[in-house]
Amino acid sequence: MFGRIDHIGVAVADLESAIELHTETYGMPLVHRETIAEQGVEAVLLDVGESHVELLKPLSDDTPVGKFLAARGPGLHHVAYAVADVHAALERAREAGLRLIDETPRTGIRGTQVAFLHPKTAGGVLTELVEAH
Ligand code: CO
Repeated sequence: MFGRIDHIGVAVADLESAIELHTETYGMPLVHRETIAEQGVEAVLLDVGESHVELLKPLSDDTPVGKFLAARGPGLHHVAYAVADVHAALERAREAGLRLIDETPRTGIRGTQVAFLHPKTAGGVLTELVEAH
């Protein structure tokens, strides 16, 4: 069902210092920066090998990432797996009885088609499916 890990999502309170850590200290190239109003985040994508790190700064406190930060503080937010067909992967997840956050795919960072699975039936991990492209 899953290909490689596409990215890990990290919730950050201070985007500039998180960028500095990942670029200056870790040496990861910053490849994309985007405000995704629909998800209430400013997102930054960095390359690490064939995968990415996605830094997520909430646009306000009442967004999902804003609430996550308030409850748990900065840190790992989700894991994203690459899938060949996000519609098919979502259907398999539904058939397997997994709890879905997205009933249908939505547009994620860099125009990708993504869908989230609820941590409740995903081993406590907020899980994102990303259609490989
Ligand atoms: Co993500």
